Amino acid sequence: MCGIIAYAGHAPAAPELFEGLRKLEYRGYDSAGITTLDRGRLYTAKRAGTVEGLRVDLNNLCGTVGIGHTRWATHGAATAANAHPHVYGRFSVVHNGIIENYSELRSELISAGHAFSSETDSEVIAHLLDVYYDGDPVDALRLTCARLKGCWAIAALCTEFDGYIVTRRGSPVILGRGKGNYAASDIYALSGRAEKYSIPEEGDFALVTPDKITIFDEHLNEVVRPFDILKSNFSEVGTDDCPHYMLKEIRENARTMRATCRAFSSLDLSAVRTRLKCADKIVLIGCGTAYNSALAGVRLLGGAYDCPVSAHIASEARYNPPRVTGRSVCIAVSQSGETADTIMAARIAREAGAYLIAMTNVGYSAITRIADFVLPVCAGAEICVAATKSYIGQLACFHLLSAGTSPSVRDCALENISKKVEEIALDDTYAPGIAKLCVQSRAVFFLGRGYDVDVATEASLKLKEVSYIFSDGYPAGELKHGTLALVDESVLSIVIICDGALAEKSKNAVEQILSRGGKVAVVTTLPPIYAALSGRVQAVWLLPEVPSHLSHFLSSTALQLVAYHAALFAGHNPDKPRNLAKSVTVE
Ligand code: G6P
Repeated sequence: MCGIIAYAGHAPAAPELFEGLRKLEYRGYDSAGITTLDRGRLYTAKRAGTVEGLRVDLNNLCGTVGIGHTRWATHGAATAANAHPHVYGRFSVVHNGIIENYSELRSELISAGHAFSSETDSEVIAHLLDVYYDGDPVDALRLTCARLKGCWAIAALCTEFDGYIVTRRGSPVILGRGKGNYAASDIYALSGRAEKYSIPEEGDFALVTPDKITIFDEHLNEVVRPFDILKSNFSEVGTDDCPHYMLKEIRENARTMRATCRAFSSLDLSAVRTRLKCADKIVLIGCGTAYNSALAGVRLLGGAYDCPVSAHIASEARYNPPRVTGRSVCIAVSQSGETADTIMAARIAREAGAYLIAMTNVGYSAITRIADFVLPVCAGAEICVAATKSYIGQLACFHLLSAGTSPSVRDCALENISKKVEEIALDDTYAPGIAKLCVQSRAVFFLGRGYDVDVATEASLKLKEVSYIFSDGYPAGELKHGTLALVDESVLSIVIICDGALAEKSKNAVEQILSRGGKVAVVTTLPPIYAALSGRVQAVWLLPEVPSHLSHFLSSTALQLVAYHAALFAGHNPDKPRNLAKSVTVE
């Protein structure tokens, strides 16, 4: 959700910023821009479209200091004028977040004679900086932030200072030291460049020159924040020999399961298990795919612990929070660990007394800093906007948390399943055929019962995210209570039948659809279902037979591949779905 990058060093800034923006592009890709500073002069290039569009401008952007931005539009269309940086007077600004009171500030500034050149909420920041500047850029930033409501990460250049200034409140920013001094929305943009990184506290300010990073607290007292060694080398993050990140990341599902198992075996989970065993309730919160994994979590934890377990959509839970006590456990699920609604709902639960566990793929993210315990999802960098391997990693986490057996037994079960997941991810026999049926259909319903209904919900989200085909994930038993009215020859129903105890019931749903002329594809781990339905439905994908409670690893992987191929058949780039962004740091 918008990516910001800043550089001050001794090398040309523009190529540094451009490479950083390319790594941040998954956060937003509707427009991009760079400002550099050279001997008191600002050089700016902004374009609608992807970061690549800026390549032609790089030679015109002079200087060894600069800021860059890749945008996911919230206020104002994706035009060059609305792209960041926003330049006013002596300042150029990039912003990630939302300024909630921007229209009041804008009216005030317009009355004072300011002319605006964009429709964004962010432009007011550049104007306020210029108003409050009195020789000290950090003080101007402090005074500016005092006028803002909302959330922000800001980096700004001032023509009278050979460096840049940074601050954050509610949106992420990381400082990096290496071949120059950097600030960026996430660590991927720093990989290969920074050797050490530091996460400023909320409300901190940083004054960054080519040779020094000075950090101040919110009262402008100079403070020392720790810089840690940047161990992870994300610089090799690429698509390998896959045409898209989405396919590469689906193929990393198995590796994610194994890495998550390994990470769990080195964790001391005794405090967490005691909390879970004594809990009066367990509440799971998340958004999008993370919420869908929480639905599976309800089933898995509900079977393992003796208290009610419920899943909540974070954007609802923060305004209508589930009741918790000092004995409750809240598990906040978030791939990025930066989703604003999830963080807010988690914070509310913790303030109400709940023990907060963060289940996240990003170890240094905002959610980890408010949690009592962090459960790692070891998916590695997930670049495709649609979550795939992180979902599988979250499922693995819920299994590991709910397993009552000894670590070796449960690790062995997941290890065995991961081999089958690996085979499915490499198989392109069935997915393209089912994907073709999807793109030929007016709508696609995903249906299942028990474990399979959670898979259906996530599979539907995946398909709509990347192929833009209307779809819904639905309990198969509810079909006859409404959805059946929509079924005809132009609608495809993908029925997932892997939960052995409910297989015959799900098969009934297939019969109901067939007898109304609907199209059906079946994904099953059960040979008798395969035998009964082969030849009677449009497609049947027989997956290896595994216990029902582990089948979602297989069926989800299969349906992620279906979504991927559907995006390709529909002519869309699966890695960058229209209108979406990976890390939703605004509310
Ligand atoms: C966005 C992404 C989804 C993701 C959701 C939650 O909407 O497009 O793919 O599932 O955010 O993200 P999180 O990082 O909290 O898991």
